[in-house]
Amino acid sequence: MENKAIFMHGTNDMIWKEIPVPEIGEEDVLIKVEAVGICGSDMHYYQHGKIGGFIVDGDFILGHEAAGKVVEVGAKVKDLKVGDRVAMEPGVTCGKCEFCVTGKYNLCPDVEFFATPPYHGVFANYVKHPASKCFKLPEHVSSIEGALVEPLNVGLHAANQGNVKLGDTVVVFGTGCIGLCSLLASKAMGASQIIVVDILQNRLDKAKELGATHVINAKNEDVVAKVMELTNNLGAEVVIETAGSEITLKQTVDVLKPAGTIVSVGMTPKDSIEFNFMKLQSKEGTIKSVFRYRNLYPTGINAIASGSIKIADIVSHKFDFEKTKEAFDYVAENPGEVVKAVIVMQ
Ligand SMILES: NC(=O)c1ccc[n+]([C@@H]2O[C@H](COP(=O)([O-])OP(=O)(O)OC[C@H]3O[C@@H](n4cnc5c(N)ncnc54)[C@H](O)[C@@H]3O)[C@@H](O)[C@H]2O)c1
Ligand SMILES: [Zn+2]
Ligand SMILES: [Zn+2]
Repeated sequence: MENKAIFMHGTNDMIWKEIPVPEIGEEDVLIKVEAVGICGSDMHYYQHGKIGGFIVDGDFILGHEAAGKVVEVGAKVKDLKVGDRVAMEPGVTCGKCEFCVTGKYNLCPDVEFFATPPYHGVFANYVKHPASKCFKLPEHVSSIEGALVEPLNVGLHAANQGNVKLGDTVVVFGTGCIGLCSLLASKAMGASQIIVVDILQNRLDKAKELGATHVINAKNEDVVAKVMELTNNLGAEVVIETAGSEITLKQTVDVLKPAGTIVSVGMTPKDSIEFNFMKLQSKEGTIKSVFRYRNLYPTGINAIASGSIKIADIVSHKFDFEKTKEAFDYVAENPGEVVKAVIVMQ
């Protein structure tokens, strides 16, 4: 078996290497990778070589949103067999710390997450992964959909943290992949009115297509005034921030309904920003945040399988594995066109 992998090789460059097919342990499976989503974080590493304290050192394999086919199973693996297609949950955790044993394993300090230095990602023909982190896909769920369970789970976790429920009004700042996943999750969880905000019209159009009730282009509209107009001057029960900008994070409290919840998902370039806590207090508002997701792979897969979340609709571009570098460059150069790109290995 040949195992070709593409490594980022400094910023804005990639090289192909032939690497050994991983040897699996008793509890692992070997996966032939079939689809990998290109995430904003992959793009960030590719263009800047680091995200915060995570610094790419040497040639590095990107990619963490992945699905593929099981081609070998470890001796102790019972629930998967050769030929099954699975979505891979990228974070492997210690299983022993307080956070792991209380189910909040996304907060495990020893997590090894695909494509987060120093752990390589999945832009390769074959990867190994613990069977317990591989979730079987029903026959009618494609590998592309399987790969997109990963970002979908961020949206599901955001909607859960905000406690989105039937009849709610939700504002989503940012309609990149994560904002769109938050929109899909909020809609599936019963929100009646979903107002989305962005500055890129192509993404707002996509959001409208996916079920946003109102779209606001922050370039030419007063966001706060418009949300208040759309909500009888009350604001939204849940405000999900995925734009990761200082401006939008500040605006969250302005569009929040009294007793509502803000969910912080986007990562701002600066760690500390100004925020009006007195306004939050006068509204008795709650701020929650999201670090990836936990315990959501079965939920995400079931929601896709049942048709309640049409995750494939967020994909705007598909590229062959051989064209991975071209894909990264295309995504970097065409933000006004690309909504979500996926690499397909066939
Ligand atoms: N907390 C987590 O666990 C977690 C997980 C995944 C991603 N993220 C973060 O979530 C954010 C969104 O991820 P993504 O992949 O969708 O990124 P993205 O860059 O594709 O999307 C961000 C969107 O925000 C829009 N935006 C920027 N400034 C704006 C403004 N002033 N007003 C309105 N919209 C504005 C952009 O046009 C873009 O469409 C990123 O910051 C990412 O790092 C966090
Ligand atoms: Zn991602
Ligand atoms: Zn742990």
